[in-house]
Amino acid sequence: MKRVLVAGATGYLGRYIVTALKNQGFYTKVLVRHPNKLTQPGKFLDPPIPNVDEVTIGDITKPETLKHICNNIDYVFSSVGITRQKDGLTFHNVDYQGNINLLKEAESSQVDKFMYIHVCLDDDLKEAGPLIEAKKRFVKALIESNVDHIIVRPTGYFSDLTQFLNMAKKGRVYLIGDGRTRMNPIHGEDLARFCIQSFSETNQILEIGGPEILTYEQIIQHAFDVFNQKKNIIHIPVGLLKPVSVGIGFFSKHHYGLYQFFINAMTHDVIAPMYGNHKIKDYFNAIV
Ligand SMILES: NC(=O)c1ccc[n+]([C@@H]2O[C@H](COP(=O)([O-])OP(=O)(O)OC[C@H]3O[C@@H](n4cnc5c(N)ncnc54)[C@H](OP(=O)(O)O)[C@@H]3O)[C@@H](O)[C@H]2O)c1
Repeated sequence: MKRVLVAGATGYLGRYIVTALKNQGFYTKVLVRHPNKLTQPGKFLDPPIPNVDEVTIGDITKPETLKHICNNIDYVFSSVGITRQKDGLTFHNVDYQGNINLLKEAESSQVDKFMYIHVCLDDDLKEAGPLIEAKKRFVKALIESNVDHIIVRPTGYFSDLTQFLNMAKKGRVYLIGDGRTRMNPIHGEDLARFCIQSFSETNQILEIGGPEILTYEQIIQHAFDVFNQKKNIIHIPVGLLKPVSVGIGFFSKHHYGLYQFFINAMTHDVIAPMYGNHKIKDYFNAIV
C-alpha cells in the first residue's frame, strides 16, 4: 500500500483527492492548518473529508511545522495555493516558498514522487501576474529537484464557475470580453481520479480538462437556464482591463494577482485533453 501525504486536503480539489485515495486503499496522511476544517462540509458540493490514517497540523509557510512530515511517505501531493483565502499571505509566500518548504522535506525524506497542481495557461503570457509567476518558479524548482515530479496542469474547476451561477441568480452576469473564449472545465472528482491514476507516471507534465469544450457564453447560458431566466450579460471590454488592473495593483497585490489570473483565463482559450464525465449543466442544477 503506497503512503501519500496530501497538502491542501481541506480545499475543493483536496477533498476529492483524499476521498478517492481512501476509496482506493492508499495510506493517507493530511497536512492541515485548521483541524476543525476536517469536519466542515465542502462549499461547492465537494465531499466531506473521510477519516484519514494520519493528520499533521502545520502551515506550509512555516518550515518548522513541517519537520520530518515526509518520513515514510511514498508520494507527496500538493494543491496548496492561494485562491479565496484572505490571510495576508502572498502568492510568493504560499504558492512558491510554501511549496518549496514542503519539497525540501520531500527531498530529505527521499520520497518517490511529488505531484503538484499547476494551472493550464500559456507559459509565455505577456503579463502573467504574481500568481502564475509564483507557480512557474515552483515548477522550475520541482523539476530541478532530486525528487521525481508529476506536474498536473488542469483547466478551470467547476467550483470557480459558480461565480456565474451566483450572478445569474441576481439576474445579470458581468463578463470580461465577448464571451467567445473557450475552455473545457473539469469537475474535482474527475480531476482527482486523473491525478491518482497519474501517480504511475514519472517526470511528466500533464495537461487535463473536462469532457466538454464550451464558450463562456454557453457556460453562462447554462447558469441562466437553471433559474429559467433570460440570459442577461454585461460584456466588459478587454480594453478597459489594463487601467483597472493598474489601479487594483496600486491598492492590493493580492487582488491584482487574482484579477490578472482571471483576465488571462478569460481572454485566452484554455483547452486541454478531455477527461471525465461530469457536465457543467448537471453541476449547476445540483448546486442550486
Ligand atoms: N480554481 C481553478 O479553477 C484552478 C484551475 C487550475 C489550477 N488551480 C490550482 O489548483 C490548486 C487547488 O485549487 P482549489 O480550488 O482546490 O483551492 P482551495 O479550495 O482554495 O484549496 C487550497 C488548499 O490549500 C490550503 N492552504 C492554503 N494556504 C496554506 C498554508 N499556508 N499552509 C497549508 N495549507 C494551505 C488550504 O487550506 P485552508 O483550508 O486552511 O485554507 C486548502 O486546503 C490551487 O493551487 C489553484 O491555483 C485552480
